[in-house]
Amino acid sequence: MTTSNITEYTNTRVLISKIPEGVAPNKDHFKTITVTETKPVLEEGSVFIKNVIFSLDPYIRHEFLPGTTQTPVIGFGIAKVLQSSNASFPVGSTFFGNLPWETYTTLSATALALVVPLQLDSELPLSVYNGVLGTSGFTVWDSLRRVADLKAGETIYISSAAGTLGQVAGQLAKRKGLRVIGSAGSDEKVAFLTSTLGFDAAFNYKTQDPRSALTSAVGPAGLDIYYDLVFDSTLETVLDILNPHGRIISVGIVAAHQGQAVAAPKNLINILMKQLRFEGYTVYENFDQWGLFCEEMTPLVKSGEIKYAETVVEGGVDVVVETYLNVMKGVYKGKVSVLTGAADL
Ligand SMILES: NC(=O)c1ccc[n+]([C@@H]2O[C@H](COP(=O)([O-])OP(=O)(O)OC[C@H]3O[C@@H](n4cnc5c(N)ncnc54)[C@H](OP(=O)(O)O)[C@@H]3O)[C@@H](O)[C@H]2O)c1
Repeated sequence: MTTSNITEYTNTRVLISKIPEGVAPNKDHFKTITVTETKPVLEEGSVFIKNVIFSLDPYIRHEFLPGTTQTPVIGFGIAKVLQSSNASFPVGSTFFGNLPWETYTTLSATALALVVPLQLDSELPLSVYNGVLGTSGFTVWDSLRRVADLKAGETIYISSAAGTLGQVAGQLAKRKGLRVIGSAGSDEKVAFLTSTLGFDAAFNYKTQDPRSALTSAVGPAGLDIYYDLVFDSTLETVLDILNPHGRIISVGIVAAHQGQAVAAPKNLINILMKQLRFEGYTVYENFDQWGLFCEEMTPLVKSGEIKYAETVVEGGVDVVVETYLNVMKGVYKGKVSVLTGAADL
């Protein structure tokens, strides 16, 4: 059966149903509906797609804003074109970008201007393009190059180190000859960091006092770089222990995704006293280096020189909410994707 024969189809979609107040979203804040829709006649430049795999990211929490109830949740993912009136996106092509959490979507030419076409490597699973070879991997690769100024022999500390970005950050810093320290929320994740990913030291921030654990892991050489994915009170500790000319690269805000208070360090004066650099990075205006990233990172991932842990949940849009809630509880290591299955219209 070809796409063009079908006029009606069943679409499952996740909507925001309630705004969480000062807490992470729970199942009551989402509503999953299934509707029968009529396939639209495509306007010039638009495409009809199957959303093949969703990336479940903590930042989704920030979409729950006043006025968003009954609107679809939108996150990163990969789609396959089923029907096209856009020569740049022929039938069968794939791309990643912002996609509503629903089975099928019609995207306009304006929306397509913001997606990135993918050249899939048949020897790699699709999920890597959500994680280590997707925006997450690119964010780390690019922020370390542009902002961190990594130097062999220095020591870097990475928070949320067993997460998608943290795993890549640690391994890329190791490849540059740095001493790498990470923290994570379970002993199993801590062991994964040191045994599988080659971190020099790691600690469990839930069972150990982060200030003393970090100070002791750092040792007499001190700390040169903090790759911050959490933006919590650890920042104050780091400002105290960073070496002169140290750098803080602020990339993530996991604490805020959890509805926790974000850091308000009282010792910012250390930035001046120790001539520190404290710089934020967001990926959105930096995709110009995407080609170089693919060229450098794809062989490293294929050869296993860069390792990654990830979770792929199969089951379609119906399981997206439950899987997202598990992401927020720290149930998984690394990138979590929901695979909705092959295009079946
Ligand atoms: N700046 C950018 O352009 C950019 C791009 C992509 C992502 N990001 C951000 O980078 C951050 C990390 O993203 P990711 O994809 O690596 O996340 P991820 O893979 O989903 O990992 C999130 C991890 O955070 C940990 N966590 C949860 N609560 C925590 C807490 N209170 N304190 C410390 N850790 C906690 C959990 O692991 P544990 O069990 O170890 O607690 C969880 O597995 C997010 O804030 C994301 O939005 C920024």
